[in-house]
Amino acid sequence: MTSFQSTTRLDTTPIKRLRRFRLTEQLRSMVRETELSPTDFIYPLFVVPGKNVRKEVPSMPGVFQLSIDQAVRECTDVLSLRIPAVILFGIPSHKDERGSEAYDEAGIVQMAIRSIKKEVPELVVVTDVCLCEYTSHGHCGILRDGRLVNDESVELLAREALTHAQAGADVVAPSDMLDGRVAAIRETLDANGYPYLPIISYAAKYASGFYGPFRDAAQSTPQFGDRRSHQMDPANAAEALREVEQDIAEGADMIMVKPALPYLDVIRQVKDRFGMPTAAYNVSGEYSMIKAAGKNGWIDEQRVMMEVLTGIKRAGADMILTYFAKDAARLLNR
Ligand code: PBG
Repeated sequence: MTSFQSTTRLDTTPIKRLRRFRLTEQLRSMVRETELSPTDFIYPLFVVPGKNVRKEVPSMPGVFQLSIDQAVRECTDVLSLRIPAVILFGIPSHKDERGSEAYDEAGIVQMAIRSIKKEVPELVVVTDVCLCEYTSHGHCGILRDGRLVNDESVELLAREALTHAQAGADVVAPSDMLDGRVAAIRETLDANGYPYLPIISYAAKYASGFYGPFRDAAQSTPQFGDRRSHQMDPANAAEALREVEQDIAEGADMIMVKPALPYLDVIRQVKDRFGMPTAAYNVSGEYSMIKAAGKNGWIDEQRVMMEVLTGIKRAGADMILTYFAKDAARLLNR
């Protein structure tokens, strides 16, 4: 008897019509949970020696290696699209065992920072702090017997970060994944008069196949071996939380998960657990796949771009480093 009654009641309950708020664009906009904005983006730039150089990266259509004069022009564009920040990567004129141009005050990135801050002072200049673009062997620090020497390399990273600060960088972003580098950089910055310069730490950075096109762009492919001794195993999430916890304890002001798409669960966990400003790097391979499939007519490039960026934000990212920043901002500003 009772079960008969409850069935009847269920039958008469009006069905939930979730489609009611989907019927027009106006209605959809009222229940939209995630809204992208150009202010969510950080745009990566590759700076090369020379003048008037604007060389497209073959595996990254729409992305260019730029000489400093061209990078400055790009920065004016970026700011006018309401994107608040760029992140700089340098391709040095000479590489050596110790990556010395990385911490040379006349290095390519240091020069680029000075020019950009002079011409486009409002734009936030973030710098990638790593040695892999500057070492002849393409590894992220000093090698001894084929192994990356952690603490000695960390000293060089701290020097690199300091030269970026002295050139006028607004934020430094260590991407090497060596142990203890956030603390070392924080200490060096504080000791040299930059207590307010923030650190975005690439805290959970995975050893990923998705960096392939970047290594073309930055000419930073390791000459032998790989980066698995310091970047994370794609299989691990709990370890990512420990990495993030450690970097926060060492003084990171914003933390990053990288790449973005295969690690949306990590972004969500990091955001929920720590409540820190959280960035995600929508990396080169993630960009190139969409570009390639779009060029072939296999997917609608614009639509997929917006879907991907929205997904990364929905997963919990406050900021997205993306080669799509300008294209997406143009659409959003319409
Ligand atoms: C290291 C660095 C890399 C990327 C950003 N910083 C390459 C690597 O770790 O091999 C990759 C970014 C991308 O793929 O877009 N300096």
